[in-house]
Amino acid sequence: MSKMTIGIDQLGFYTPNYYVDLVDLAQARGVDPDKFTIGIGQDKQAVPPSSQDVVTMGASAANEFLTPDMKQDIGLIVLGTETGIDASKAGSLYIQQLLNLNPWSRAIEIKEACYGATAGLMLAKDYIATHPGKTALVIASDIARYGLETGGEVTQGAGAIAMLVTENPRIMALGDVSSYYSEQVMDFWRPVYTDEAIALGKYSTEQYIRFFELTWADYQKQTGKQLADFAAMTFHLPYTKMGLKALRTALPEADAVKQADLLAKYEESIQYSRQVGNIYTGSLYLGLLSLLEKNTNLQAGDEIGLFSYGSGAVGEFFTATLVDGFRSQLHAEQHQATLDARTQLSVPDYELVFKDKVPYAADNYQADPARFAGDFVLSGVTDQQRQYQVNE
Ligand code: COA
Repeated sequence: MSKMTIGIDQLGFYTPNYYVDLVDLAQARGVDPDKFTIGIGQDKQAVPPSSQDVVTMGASAANEFLTPDMKQDIGLIVLGTETGIDASKAGSLYIQQLLNLNPWSRAIEIKEACYGATAGLMLAKDYIATHPGKTALVIASDIARYGLETGGEVTQGAGAIAMLVTENPRIMALGDVSSYYSEQVMDFWRPVYTDEAIALGKYSTEQYIRFFELTWADYQKQTGKQLADFAAMTFHLPYTKMGLKALRTALPEADAVKQADLLAKYEESIQYSRQVGNIYTGSLYLGLLSLLEKNTNLQAGDEIGLFSYGSGAVGEFFTATLVDGFRSQLHAEQHQATLDARTQLSVPDYELVFKDKVPYAADNYQADPARFAGDFVLSGVTDQQRQYQVNE
């Protein structure tokens, strides 16, 4: 009998239907556009209206692939987010309701900056190993918000990735060995009174690289594997130049041909993020999705490296192996069409949408119905309760 594999069976994606062009933003901020498009490596930034939050985006991403049969087998629903809408209650409970998921399940939320969804994925893997026949829905959903005219503004974004984790997955099987490392580091955090993160930008990029070097070296020590054993390396992408900085530290381990191949695959992995921006805990998985959907020569059996980083900080290097028929489970044309169909906002309009937000107060709030989009919306807040509905 062959060994049971556990991994990603389905990958869904959602991003809001508005974006701001970063050349426009650069000009409005008096910055050379090349800094944003080349130096940071971003072209467009998703702009979420207040009717989109981690619940609506996460539910829409999962709704892309969920069938009634799939819903029955789900026994674990994890929302990884650092943009939670409640300090106590898990956002996955609203998602469970919106998607009519099986109530005989564990519905929780995991927080550790951009690492939350990876923690969810690892929890799901262990859960499935001990609950044969059960599946897990792991959702990464976030709004990256640093504030108007801040250093981090160019690296904002919004979106969600949903993953169905199963036995004998149809996209990729997770490897048995991974390396994880945690250390209390003040590189990025968000006090509970505000929806804008505090980032020590330069310091956070240094920590990211340090955590990659630590976990990559430890993974190699545990397994004896070389860079050349990997068909592609994917990274958490707070902005697309960031992963490249980490990849470059490992590249000298491979010959020139392999280096060129890994750089070409890296380029494929950043195509979606260039158009969406940072989606925090989903960014690694948006990079993975982009690689799988933009690449044409990866094959079943190819092993992919994944580096997850959450400021604060936790890093994990782990691997996944593509399985037969993986391409037939992807939605490349649909995803690019969704990105192309978005509405461009001028910088003044982006600023208006940015400022129209659910208040950090007990006041009732009504989201602008003219900006409703996606499968689900937050219509407002009444008596301190968030009101979600299907977008008719
Ligand atoms: N043409 C091309 N490149 C240019 C340029 C131009 N005209 N002007 C600047 N650049 C390059 C710089 O050389 C630099 O490249 P490098 O990183 O390869 O050295 C890059 O653009 C960024 O410039 P820099 O001056 O370092 O940017 P910044 O001070 O505005 O900070 C961040 C950039 C990412 C740190 C900032 O946006 C931030 O704080 N983001 C939020 C936190 C974050 O995302 N952290 C990531 C780890 S989790």
